[in-house]
Amino acid sequence: MDQLSQFNSGISILEMSYIIASILFILGLKMLSHPLTARRGNTLAAIGMGLAVIATILFHHKDGKPIGNVGFILFAIGIGSIIGWVIAKRVKMTAMPQLVSFFNGMGGAAAALISMMEFQHVSPELIAKSGMANGHVLAILLGLMIGTISWAGSMIAFGKLDGRIGDLRIKAMKYVNLTILAILIGFIVYIMTRHVQSSSELTYLIYIMFVIAAIYGVLFVMPIGGADMPVVISLLNSFTGVAAAMGGFLYNNQIMLTGGILVGSAGTILTILMCRAMNRSLLNVIIGVFGGGGKTNVEATGSVKEISISDAAVLLSYSKKVVIVPGYGLAVAQAQHICHELDKLLEEKGVEVKYAIHPVAGRMPGHMNVLLAEADVPYEQLIESEEINPDLPNTDVLVVIGANDVVNPAAEDDPSSPIYGMPIIKARDAKNIIVMKRGMGKGYAAIENMLFYNDKTRMLFGDAKSTLQNLVNEVKSL
Ligand code: TAP
Repeated sequence: MDQLSQFNSGISILEMSYIIASILFILGLKMLSHPLTARRGNTLAAIGMGLAVIATILFHHKDGKPIGNVGFILFAIGIGSIIGWVIAKRVKMTAMPQLVSFFNGMGGAAAALISMMEFQHVSPELIAKSGMANGHVLAILLGLMIGTISWAGSMIAFGKLDGRIGDLRIKAMKYVNLTILAILIGFIVYIMTRHVQSSSELTYLIYIMFVIAAIYGVLFVMPIGGADMPVVISLLNSFTGVAAAMGGFLYNNQIMLTGGILVGSAGTILTILMCRAMNRSLLNVIIGVFGGGGKTNVEATGSVKEISISDAAVLLSYSKKVVIVPGYGLAVAQAQHICHELDKLLEEKGVEVKYAIHPVAGRMPGHMNVLLAEADVPYEQLIESEEINPDLPNTDVLVVIGANDVVNPAAEDDPSSPIYGMPIIKARDAKNIIVMKRGMGKGYAAIENMLFYNDKTRMLFGDAKSTLQNLVNEVKSL
């Protein structure tokens, strides 16, 4: 095996496989940044991961010995793959964010378990050399803390996205969370400055740390509501990456390190972009405090005016510029194909149609891009909210389809609103507004939307798919 696993150049098959897997991860990540290549990117990265796992099982040696327990490992991989496959096959597109959050939590839990196991294996030679104050122990403790926070936080995020857990907002939360964070750091410092014979003398501290980190994970996600969940999810995702990278340090395993760093850095970049998109500060995300701090005090006033399908068809067909704002309801109704049919029909009539894409519309980053790409809407037609907002005063009709929070003017008008400060699509600037939704149901942030009571707004009630189908039929008949 040794001869087989060693090239003339001195690079082993294992190292070669890790280099190829790393390249596949990076290419995959790059391809994920565009809807047209995202699916292939995902496959490439999955092949990279498969290669890394197989190469590790076959060629990894520790102290000159092969990895061992291969039967158990394959059995665990088999069970995990079957469960993952079945869940992913069955999940509805609308429940995808919960699933992503759940899977992310599993990654955090795995990293925390590695740390708990490895702490007990810190070698007496290492302890004799530098006490507990060494990089190996630091990587274990950070992996434990970050992995546990990611696991506990992701489970709460899963519960919230699935509608099983509500918000819990206590005024002093910020200080409680900061204190817990300080205690966790205190534990790390304390453990690392101890002089002991063996790490097992301190194992009980590791379990206490695990419990405190889990409490922190729960408490920092609990108060987050309004429209801010996406930011937290991407932060938790980056935590899992960092925790996995700690595992890479521990095992001196390059691919685990590379994979962890890629997830950690991509997650961090996404978090920063999300923070900017939501006008939130990163520190407030980390300690679980953001939003306007409560439910909006805006009372719905005025009346809601409806529009008929035929009037809507006429208004749209004789417009010059139409902007469609897709939201979560479009995804629920799976109305993206029929929506594209409408925009094609209108364009045939000489109407310019664009889509306004808000960064957190839907329930996962890039949700609307993916949804519309699935219906083959040309990418050039999708315009980000910041870019389209200045054009809205010249827009004849703005059609909101199953969106709510992302067009809610409370973000600009009401400082007590939980979404206050979040940049929105300035729908009310358009000359006419048509809102398609089933009734007066609220959006994710569970707050009133005064746009629906605006003088320029007409409601077109019904499920987005059937309403759009009727509209398409009507436009065709004009
Ligand atoms: P929401 O504010 O959630 O509003 C969706 C609206 O769609 C609802 O008011 C609902 O009203 C309507 N709807 C539901 N099913 C429908 C159907 N079958 N046909 C027609 N309409 C339907 O959506 P949004 O504007 O896209 O905003 C997204 C929200 O989710 C933000 O608050 C965001 O922060 C949050 N969030 C986003 C993410 C990411 S990363 N995108 C992740 C987690 C949370 P009716 O019940 O009256 O029909």
